[in-house]
Amino acid sequence: MSTTATLATLSDSNLAADPNWWRQASVYQIYPRSFADSNGDGLGDIKGITAKVPYLKELGIDAVWLSPFYPSALADGGYDVDDYRNVDPKLGTLEDFDEMANALHAAGIKLIADIVPNHSSDRHEWFREALASPKGSAARDRYIFRDGKGPNGEFPPSDWDSVFGGPAWERITEPDGTPGQWYMHIFAKEQPDLNWANREIRDDFLKTLRFWSDRGVDGFRVDVAHALTKDLTEPLLSKLELSAANTGTDGFADGSHPFWDRDDVHEVYAEWREVFNEYNPPRTAVAEAWVHATRRPRYASPAGLGQAFNFDLLQADFDAEEFREIITRNLAEAAATGASSTWVFSNHDVVRHATRYGLPKGSKGSKGKPAKGQDGKSWLLAGGPKEELDVELGERRARAATLLMLAVPGSAYLYQGEELGLQEVAEIPDAERQDPSFFRNKGVEVGRDGCRVPLPWAVEGTSFGFGDGGAHLPQPDWFSRYAVEAQDGTQGSTLELYRTALKLRRELQAAEELEWIETGNPEVLHFSRPGGWRSVTNFGDTAVELPAGTVLVSSAPLVDGKLPANTTAWLR
Ligand code: NOJ
Repeated sequence: MSTTATLATLSDSNLAADPNWWRQASVYQIYPRSFADSNGDGLGDIKGITAKVPYLKELGIDAVWLSPFYPSALADGGYDVDDYRNVDPKLGTLEDFDEMANALHAAGIKLIADIVPNHSSDRHEWFREALASPKGSAARDRYIFRDGKGPNGEFPPSDWDSVFGGPAWERITEPDGTPGQWYMHIFAKEQPDLNWANREIRDDFLKTLRFWSDRGVDGFRVDVAHALTKDLTEPLLSKLELSAANTGTDGFADGSHPFWDRDDVHEVYAEWREVFNEYNPPRTAVAEAWVHATRRPRYASPAGLGQAFNFDLLQADFDAEEFREIITRNLAEAAATGASSTWVFSNHDVVRHATRYGLPKGSKGSKGKPAKGQDGKSWLLAGGPKEELDVELGERRARAATLLMLAVPGSAYLYQGEELGLQEVAEIPDAERQDPSFFRNKGVEVGRDGCRVPLPWAVEGTSFGFGDGGAHLPQPDWFSRYAVEAQDGTQGSTLELYRTALKLRRELQAAEELEWIETGNPEVLHFSRPGGWRSVTNFGDTAVELPAGTVLVSSAPLVDGKLPANTTAWLR
């Protein structure tokens, strides 16, 4: 057995026993419908994931975060859940799920399940019952129903927009066939918001948390964790009044918004924490909460969910000063609350970072939002005109940024395909798009499908080895050169860089401390971790001398012993 293998085995068993395993874990997000397809129906599935466990083990991650795999009509890629305690038959069965969980655990990999508590799907049995029941019934009280305005209730209760565009209210037809009440949906109309003031909803979710925890799920990623509790006391403020009252650029700072980030949402998570602590080791959780930075620690509190996503780096430019400020601030925040920091560059909602970093600074896409150019055509075209997207620069910077991130204390969240340096797919014909944000915006926003295209495993063949059939979103020809097969064992490939870095990270991992080392060059960031692990990133355009030490890995080859532009190296 090689030294590396011995170390990996040792850390696997330490990880299983350690109640703090999550604090500095590398977590790999699997978007199941686009990961691997075992039965050739064009849709990734649970058995497909199980078959790739050896790949995940070799990658060197500590945990998998599985995006929704529940029965769903896929109105929002699975974030419209029909049944919280089952597996989508299109993806497999509960037995397949158990098999996958066991295979992951046997490989020393933890499993984090996505949970979607803010809304169910409109096909959930509760919602069907609500539609079939009269106004004021207990069945309607599981959701947020209101009478409309106007003489015949023909106008929505407020002028609020849904996140995906269009109104946040939808009118129903009453069981007797007459136009009826309206229900609230912050997202698509197929995602009615649940009423968290209703005790039955709260209890049912506690049951769901236990259901999956009993099946071996080690933690939960909580979808839109900041929207559950609402104060919809009449009169409802208009969107103009709400935006005038907004106290920050990134959300209300005082918890006074009617549905985002209200203080009493933490009562929900205090109950969840009690359930998590029934297990050994306690189940973990990470909040997806796009809130004012000053309010994020509440979600990450050990008495609540324990961790909250920090999307600051994801929204930053590739810029030394910005990176340093964000890292310093977030580490201080985490230390003050007892949480651990989280870091993320890519996920299923944003433009892949290999593409963002190749776009002109300040452009819309460079901040994570998929966009069309001013001429209405997509300008995220990988391989497209240089003045718009520089593919090589994007990938080079993404590798440098990721290597830096993997050296920072806290958890690193990685998104499937980023280990291949995959670019956003811009050339999806409108007719093949799936994202509700594209349809509800009438195509003004291109939506998030470009980062959700099924992974290329092989350089050629049907769907590049994703499965024996097609792929549910079209894969471009250039996917071939990013395939796992093309990169596996290839020196200098992005895949091999991730493998090397993730293994080293496990070996070098140390107390959650970071010390900046002044470089005298504003374009170069240098920091150390306990035990002598150091990371140096050159954000500038010209090569710089490396500080003394042994180079362990670098995101691009050194040139004459120097650290080239847009490159990170780890030293000891
Ligand atoms: C956040 C998820 O990440 C996103 O994909 C989804 O559309 C919304 N929440 C609604 O569930």
